[in-house]
Amino acid sequence: MASARPARKTANLGLEEAVADAEARYVAARPKSRAIFEQNLEAMPGGNTRTVLFFQPFPTVLAEGRGARLVDVDGHDYVDWLGEYSAGLYGHSHPVILGAIQKALEAGIALGGPNRFEGPLAAELCRRFPSLELVRFCNSGTEANLFAISAARAYTGRPAVMVFDHGYHGGVFYFAPGGDRINAPFPWVLAPYNDLPGTLALLEAHADELAAVLIEPVQGGAGALPAEPGFLQALREACTRFGICLIFDEVMTSRSSAGGLQARLGITPDLTTLGKYLGGGLTLSAFGGKAAIMAQFDPRRPQAIPHAGTFNNNVLAMAAGLAGLQEVATPAVLDAHFQRGERLKEKINALAERRGVPFQCTGCGTILALHCQGGTLRSGRDLAAQDPLRRERLQRLLHFDLLERGHYLARRGYLALSLPLREEDETSLLGAIDEFLALRRHLLLA
Ligand SMILES: Cc1ncc(COP(=O)(O)O)c(C=O)c1O
Repeated sequence: MASARPARKTANLGLEEAVADAEARYVAARPKSRAIFEQNLEAMPGGNTRTVLFFQPFPTVLAEGRGARLVDVDGHDYVDWLGEYSAGLYGHSHPVILGAIQKALEAGIALGGPNRFEGPLAAELCRRFPSLELVRFCNSGTEANLFAISAARAYTGRPAVMVFDHGYHGGVFYFAPGGDRINAPFPWVLAPYNDLPGTLALLEAHADELAAVLIEPVQGGAGALPAEPGFLQALREACTRFGICLIFDEVMTSRSSAGGLQARLGITPDLTTLGKYLGGGLTLSAFGGKAAIMAQFDPRRPQAIPHAGTFNNNVLAMAAGLAGLQEVATPAVLDAHFQRGERLKEKINALAERRGVPFQCTGCGTILALHCQGGTLRSGRDLAAQDPLRRERLQRLLHFDLLERGHYLARRGYLALSLPLREEDETSLLGAIDEFLALRRHLLLA
């Protein structure tokens, strides 16, 4: 049971006061998190080493996790809806994952040679994903995208990469406003997500320079916004026509079926990037695709491109990832999980409709997001149409209210469902959201 205190009635407060009131209760309930945060400020800018985990006034510090439950350092327990931004597919203590790590650990780590896990894991991925003829491993989604882009540039001999507004492909591949100050200096062509005429016009204008089109089939960071199948299909056709490598960043969406979202949609890119849950919750990612593109990395070839990375085949993540795919995330389990997410999304949207408030759940399968906003949301541009201050305050209020009711999720409303979530967790979340919609109705409608 969640131990957090329920919100008191605040029906007559304005938005700013309601946020201040919720924040005061958040702070009062978390003295240990606050103390750790203040201590951390001494050695890390903002007391933080992963910006997405920071939120005002200070983030909740987590002490432990079991299954789909989390406990913070102040003793509150939560249902974990964040699922480590989709890396936590297996939950926090799956016996298969822990057993595989333990067994690998006993045989020694950092061996400095090929090991017995990487081949079977690569073969399993190539069996599953339609686009993967050959695959290589690395350590993060960022790195996987970096290598996929570099492979496409080397293969085509062209420099530029088309990406989409509000897209996120890693720490230095961030295409929302403000991202350009940190982004890797590739020649980017920024196209409008889910706007086919606008994108095709840009693609045709830059066809001679473009090595790749890099897209998330569901924009996760932007707010769980699915690319429309017709949009992806048209990109597929245009890339084929102009000899451009189509890269699907399935770092988040690869869990949508055994073969990722590409298998579910029946659209096969030239290259695919994977990450997050791939190492069973440990650090691992992959990039792969057409044999002709990936064969550039074959070290037996005279002009081979080197692909370095000390931890590319680290045994713990390889062992955990392989056991996870073979024994837990089977095709049937992933299909059922996808459908479960779709049903949850529908139930949340039905609550908002019944209450008649501008609120919705977007996403695809088990990558979802809650938005205090009505209307059709097809891109980050639609989200940006709302007053940003109001949007930020409402999302902050939602976050505080759900935390207080024992549900852990991202400040921006992002959820990634993990396998150990139970039926009663969903019932509890739906109850908490419905309570939010009732209690904050006047603010949502204002
Ligand atoms: C779609 C997508 N691509 C790439 C990344 C980057 O992965 P990593 O954080 O492992 O570098 C993320 C991370 O959230 C992501 O959502």
